Amino acid sequence: MDILTILLRILHIFGGVFWVGAAWLITFFLAPTAAALGPEGGKFMGALSARKMPIYISIAALVTLLAGFALYYIRIIVPGLSNTTAGMVFGLGGIIGLVAGGVGGGIVGPTTTKMAALGAEIARGGKPPTPEQASQLSALQKRLASASLWNAILVTLALLAMSVARYL
Ligand code: HEM
Repeated sequence: MDILTILLRILHIFGGVFWVGAAWLITFFLAPTAAALGPEGGKFMGALSARKMPIYISIAALVTLLAGFALYYIRIIVPGLSNTTAGMVFGLGGIIGLVAGGVGGGIVGPTTTKMAALGAEIARGGKPPTPEQASQLSALQKRLASASLWNAILVTLALLAMSVARYL
């Protein structure tokens, strides 16, 4: 195995571990915690965003996807393995991973950012949220819960395909 493939595998697997781990953590622990905290949940998401959580997750997802496509080219397309079962399962996992990237970057990330901004606005006001702010916050919390669940399901399916493809 050449050095480029080894480097791409390190980037791909480390990025994937961070991305899938973060997706599970957000879906099963952080989003429900933010929802249980009510208005304080917006501040909680704001504090997470201030630590650049969405940026680190986006970078990990991008690195995983880019290294994955490069690996697919080098390890599957060049040796002509795209019609084998393993090649197709790596490809299917790749497509699912790409859709997960779309859900994460297109819905989970922007919703987290909006919740953080609303949380900061409520905190600046120094008073309990207005009914309008409270209903906006609860709509954002619902959207975050369902989009992050879908994202977690998709990254899990991609990981499952990647874990078994070689042995099929
Ligand atoms: C959620 C996203 C993803 C995760 C968690 C993930 C995870 C993994 C893991 C753990 C492996 C090691 C399995 C093994 O070598 O037997 C792997 C290998 C691989 N992945 Fe992914 N992957 C993801 C997305 C993608 C994407 C988008 C592509 C592009 C088509 C891709 C293409 C590949 C290829 C071709 C290999 C085999 C590399 C080799 O033969 O050395 N992956 N992936």
